[in-house]
Amino acid sequence: MVAKDRIIFALDVGDIESARQWVETLGTRVGWFKVGLELFTAAGPAVVKLIKDSGLKCFLDLKFHDIPNTVSGAVRSATRMNVDMMTIHLSGGAGMIQSARAAAAQEALSAGIGIPKIIGVSVLTSLNQEDLHDIGVDRPLKEQVLNLIELARNNTIDGIVCSPTDLEFVRRHIPKQTMVITPGIRPGWASTGDQKRIATPKTAVEAGADLLVIGRPISQADDPAEAVDRIVQEIEAAR
Ligand code: C5P
Repeated sequence: MVAKDRIIFALDVGDIESARQWVETLGTRVGWFKVGLELFTAAGPAVVKLIKDSGLKCFLDLKFHDIPNTVSGAVRSATRMNVDMMTIHLSGGAGMIQSARAAAAQEALSAGIGIPKIIGVSVLTSLNQEDLHDIGVDRPLKEQVLNLIELARNNTIDGIVCSPTDLEFVRRHIPKQTMVITPGIRPGWASTGDQKRIATPKTAVEAGADLLVIGRPISQADDPAEAVDRIVQEIEAAR
């Protein structure tokens, strides 16, 4: 995979005009754009169309978590928009995961398009052991991550989102073909911001990340296009 196709730029903006400017600025330099809750709630399918019409890949990061029937419906709608990849919460359970996968496959088949990848989110990195206890989970956090990864594996999910510090651990417990997508990327020259569990692009790729979600190191750089070029070089330098 060429380095630029490993970079997912996080469109963490609140309106379609800002999104359009980023797609114009970075569209020749990164392969993917991530649309999350803020932008999708404001701009809806138009923002997905903007990305796809520019010949780029769209990662719809809405972290679906609901009853299987409702998640199937959402996955069908996302598939019709021709997104390339979307997230679900693994804690939604086996039935929800299977429904999501089946809905993506069926809808893609009837629309005559490629099947979007379904990516599982395990334990949100904003949660600590005490938060888990509060929601009734008393096993160690890492065990809970492992538990959800096993659930993902048993239901043949396409990929997993995990923090750079969990990369090696997660890689050990999933099949080779399962994709790993990692946020929390900070090149040596970027500020860490509020991210705590971080890695450089090179380290993350060497530890087994397939795709890197990167926002502020690019968006807050003096020259975002140049920042991407430096990240591409770092990825290319990975062993
Ligand atoms: O920190 P940065 O601006 O690079 O973040 C890029 C994206 O990664 C954001 O959209 C953020 O929500 C997402 N993310 C994260 N940490 C996680 C999970 C997702 O930063 N643990």
